[in-house]
Amino acid sequence: MTATRRDLLRWLDDLGWRDPPHVAAPAAAQVTVARGPTDCTTLEELEALLDGCTRCDLAEKRRHIVFGEGNPHAAVMFVGEAPGADEDRTGRPFVGQAGKLLDAMIVAMGLRREDVYIANVVKCRPPGNRDPKEPEKAACAPFLDRQIELIRPRVLVALGKPAANRLSGTSKPIGALRGRWLTYRGIPLLATYHPAYLLRNVHGKRAVWEDLKRVLARLSRT
Ligand code: URA
Repeated sequence: MTATRRDLLRWLDDLGWRDPPHVAAPAAAQVTVARGPTDCTTLEELEALLDGCTRCDLAEKRRHIVFGEGNPHAAVMFVGEAPGADEDRTGRPFVGQAGKLLDAMIVAMGLRREDVYIANVVKCRPPGNRDPKEPEKAACAPFLDRQIELIRPRVLVALGKPAANRLSGTSKPIGALRGRWLTYRGIPLLATYHPAYLLRNVHGKRAVWEDLKRVLARLSRT
């Protein structure tokens, strides 16, 4: 006698090889792929990804994340070190005394602040304006990299040693890096003194102006 399909199903049930009809099959596993900076296709998405960031210890004491601001298609992008007290309070980069000097530098170049893009190596204020630590810079690095990738400026200007080191991939002093063309991922990079340094050392202004003229000359050639 040949077994019917019904017999076979009963044997399977007896052996416990089949879920009883009332037990729902397990739902297909949900695979959630973590979104990272390189998945973001706009600056808005990238900024949203940073919302509430706790990737490093700076999250504890900061008031605002200072993502950066300016023209998303800027030809010139300035990169500073880290937000200070004024930036932490307002959530905007370079709005304190150093920011006023940066504004003057931008105007001297014949540009407006809204023509350029301004960001920092780290997006949260280090307490007491101390230098950002390596893990803090590393936590922000993919965000700055993607920011630059999305803006694709024709020229990058690093303001001060931390930005110059981060973008050039060297640890040389700013005096050795400033005033000559370097590259960051194929983008011409010029390092110059940080405006906060100029507030304390006025004689550095001439060198910075020479650097900014180099940037303008480069822009007029490309
Ligand atoms: N100094 C910086 O490096 N960045 C700012 O945003 C403000 C001051």
